[in-house]
Amino acid sequence: MNTTTTRVRACRVDELPPGEARRVEGDHQPVAVYNVGGEYFALDDTCTHEKFALTEGWIDDDVVECALHMAKFCIRTGKALCLPANRDLVTHAVEVVDGEVWIVMTLDSISFGGTP
Ligand code: FES
Repeated sequence: MNTTTTRVRACRVDELPPGEARRVEGDHQPVAVYNVGGEYFALDDTCTHEKFALTEGWIDDDVVECALHMAKFCIRTGKALCLPANRDLVTHAVEVVDGEVWIVMTLDSISFGGTP
């Protein structure tokens, strides 16, 4: 198992209230951090359908809907829930340390292909 990780600061806890998301550019790909009822989740922010920023879309509880063609993804798992997306989003670990939210990316979760 590869344990190489990189951490990217997302925001302070008080900058991300429940029901909201924040886009973080990161070193390799844009990632969205979500607050779902006080739990934090991080997913790639690029829709797997046609590479549109999911933080431009709508959040309903633990589902994010793409604003371009209305694909939906589970924020907890990254699972694509409906067409036109048929590929899941990559998920990342999140750590909260001293009131700061951090995205923890591993070699397996980093995209080296570059996404918009
Ligand atoms: S780009 Fe997201 S559903 Fe088409």
